[in-house]
Amino acid sequence: MTSTSTVQALGLAQETPIQDHIRLVADELMASLPDPGELTADERRGLIARYTAVLEGNFIYWMTGAYLSVGTEEARSIISENLHEEIRDCHPGMLRRFAMAAHAVPTDLDALAVYRDLTDVRLFVGRLLGVPLVVMMAFFEGFIQRFMPFLAELAELQGSTEKEYTDVHGVCDVAHTQELFRALSVEMSSNVPGPSTDVFEGVGLLRTLIENIVRPANNWMVQTA
Ligand SMILES: [Fe+2]
Repeated sequence: MTSTSTVQALGLAQETPIQDHIRLVADELMASLPDPGELTADERRGLIARYTAVLEGNFIYWMTGAYLSVGTEEARSIISENLHEEIRDCHPGMLRRFAMAAHAVPTDLDALAVYRDLTDVRLFVGRLLGVPLVVMMAFFEGFIQRFMPFLAELAELQGSTEKEYTDVHGVCDVAHTQELFRALSVEMSSNVPGPSTDVFEGVGLLRTLIENIVRPANNWMVQTA
């Protein structure tokens, strides 16, 4: 992992190292994905259900956190565009249709499987740290776009023909990622993170959550006991 001090030493030219780092994290996550054809039907269902449990009710909330956390009008305007699209085109409804068509609507156990790591991300978002939160969302948009063919294949193997969610997010998230990098650049030029700020804190928490979506640790009973 790129150290905070290394990134900070680069001053206002931090955008490129940040992009490099989050691309590396996404590369590692993509390389760790199982072959959909080698999973059982129940494993495929669970993976789609956990993804849905995380994204359906949280993506807009997290992006709203990014909106509230940035200090520049330009960054706010860019994130506002993203939120408009999410809400106007009802992306949560699109994801719900995707899960229903794959017979993978989340159960209480699916929600519990991601509970601890999801809570960690929620609490991080609640701290409203402008730059680290925009870095996390830029990472997430980029990862989602690359994750879509895998998610679509899982659903197809579950007998689904519903592709609107995966088609839309395989395309629009490319533009969203670029726009969030622009917001990040603007924000960093006016609100430089302090020396104790880990700009990758949210990326690390989100990575752990995604890893748990793909391979649940089943340790939620310890956390909720
Ligand atoms: Fe979306």
